[in-house]
Amino acid sequence: MTRLIVFLSVITALVLALVLFSYKSLPVSNDKFNLHATTESYEKQEHLVETLLAPKEKVVEVEVEVKEYAPVVDLNTPQLVAGHKLFTQCISCHGKGGEGKTSQKAPFIGGQFDWYIEKQLTDMKAGTRVNAVMNPILKGLNPQDIKDLAAYVSRLPWKKPVEGAPAEAAAAH
Ligand code: HEC
Repeated sequence: MTRLIVFLSVITALVLALVLFSYKSLPVSNDKFNLHATTESYEKQEHLVETLLAPKEKVVEVEVEVKEYAPVVDLNTPQLVAGHKLFTQCISCHGKGGEGKTSQKAPFIGGQFDWYIEKQLTDMKAGTRVNAVMNPILKGLNPQDIKDLAAYVSRLPWKKPVEGAPAEAAAAH
């Protein structure tokens, strides 16, 4: 009986020793508590949320139709050639003949005095004449461009029809 008890004790001790030994050899890792990695991934998420929540930049666009068109005016000077080219930015509102467009609230300008057109464009570029539509369009034009435009527009044949007058009278200007 005593022998059996000793034998069992020895077996139990051996098993215990084995179990303890195997515990000791388990790899120890604290990956789960890697603070650096946790902070990094948190920052990534934060950045993503910030990007998604960032307000989109507002872009105000003025529609400017630029297209080639046959000249209405005899382009017999370099100034008129330049003016015709520049006027492509204007026809969507003021019309090829400078006849204007009511839907755009753009006045007729064809056949107007060149000095008047030049003054209006200069004032609108400087901002002393305020118009939300015209002001930004003139930003990219220099004084020479404005002179060229004025020369071209003043020669446009369009004229406000006078009531009762024959159509030819309006066209011949
Ligand atoms: C998007 C439409 C638009 C475009 C493009 C545009 N204009 Fe205008 N333009 C207007 C409007 C609207 C007015 C009226 C301004 C006001 O009410 O003060 C105006 C006014 C003017 C006037 C003043 C007329 C007057 O009797 O006092 C001139 C000159 C003129 N534009 C020339 C041009 C020229 C030259 C270009 C091209 C470089 C051009 N515009 C392009 C809309 C436009």
